[in-house]
Amino acid sequence: MRQAGRYLPEFRKVRESHEFFEVCRTPALATEITLQPIRRYSGLLDASIIFSDILVVPQAMGMEVIMNPGPHFPDPLNTPEDVKKLKEVVDVDKELGYVFQAITQTRTELNGEVPLIGFCGAPWTLFAYMIEGGGSKTFQKAKTWLFKYPEESKALLLRIADVCVDFLVGQVKAGAQLLQVFDSWAGELSPYDFDQFSFPTLTHISTNVRRRLVKENLPATPMTVFAKGANYALASIAASGGYDVVGLDWCIDPVEARRIVGDKVALQGNMDPGVLYGGRDAIEAAVKRMSQGFRAGKGGWIANLGHGITPGVDPEDMRWFLECVHKYSAL
Ligand code: CP3
Repeated sequence: MRQAGRYLPEFRKVRESHEFFEVCRTPALATEITLQPIRRYSGLLDASIIFSDILVVPQAMGMEVIMNPGPHFPDPLNTPEDVKKLKEVVDVDKELGYVFQAITQTRTELNGEVPLIGFCGAPWTLFAYMIEGGGSKTFQKAKTWLFKYPEESKALLLRIADVCVDFLVGQVKAGAQLLQVFDSWAGELSPYDFDQFSFPTLTHISTNVRRRLVKENLPATPMTVFAKGANYALASIAASGGYDVVGLDWCIDPVEARRIVGDKVALQGNMDPGVLYGGRDAIEAAVKRMSQGFRAGKGGWIANLGHGITPGVDPEDMRWFLECVHKYSAL
């Protein structure tokens, strides 16, 4: 669950004395924060996700990114000319070796308790940040690129995808046991434009990561894709995306999602994180409904929220959510 740290006092404590990307770049701190929820909810979580951020990839490509409190790029890519400012060749071992070290250290400290998930941002989502220079409501700048400079956009998207491939393979080499690709802004595209600009880069990543894992004698590693807001594309993602698990936001009913994807992929999701504000009865009812929905069909289910935990959630309500998941998925 992305950006999960902020609702935990132990996370905020570390952040009091360390800047966000400093934490990402310091393997001992990233390891410590990765382990915080595992310790707090001991026995209730089935996996951990490495503490990092999707924006370490634009940094590796040569861009400056600061967190204040949301992401901010002081010098975004305004026109296709600006692509010249990016590094021509990105050596992920050199630029992102700190993530690999954090993964290896976390695996050691987890000592087999739960598996460790590695991740990256999807090319379209990273492209949007690199051009907008931060979050956006209209995506005016990123869309100007897509629709005014479609060929240059596709070239940049593919360039980002190639860095993602090297980065994900490096994470497996370092010890990651599942890989998740976050396309947080997929829902900003029409079905046609998702097919033009995002889907080909998602399949580029799944195909090439798997190819490289075989070639480099690394473990075959399951892959998850989360294309937030792109439920219109679920059927094609499941049929030909090349992923083992499809993450869902809360805007689709579990039974409907299973009907659309068939039984080829596992599903992950999808309670509205906002329910965590509603108290125990609301949480229990939502978990019960979600669990019954996902377990009615064939195929695997990974219980999760439909997006990240927001800062104001009470950690004890989060515990209750996890307890309810165990209760209703065992029935
Ligand atoms: O949850 C975790 O702690 C796991 C590690 C993780 C983070 N970010 C840490 C983080 C993961 C998997 C992410 C993914 C991420 N980062 C995504 C994809 C998932 C999604 O949210 O759709 C995106 C789009 C980002 C970019 C990003 N990073 C944003 C938009 C923000 C600000 C969020 C906000 O609401 O203010 C971040 C910051 C960030 N990344 C935090 C954490 C714990 C909080 C920042 C802080 O500590 O000050």
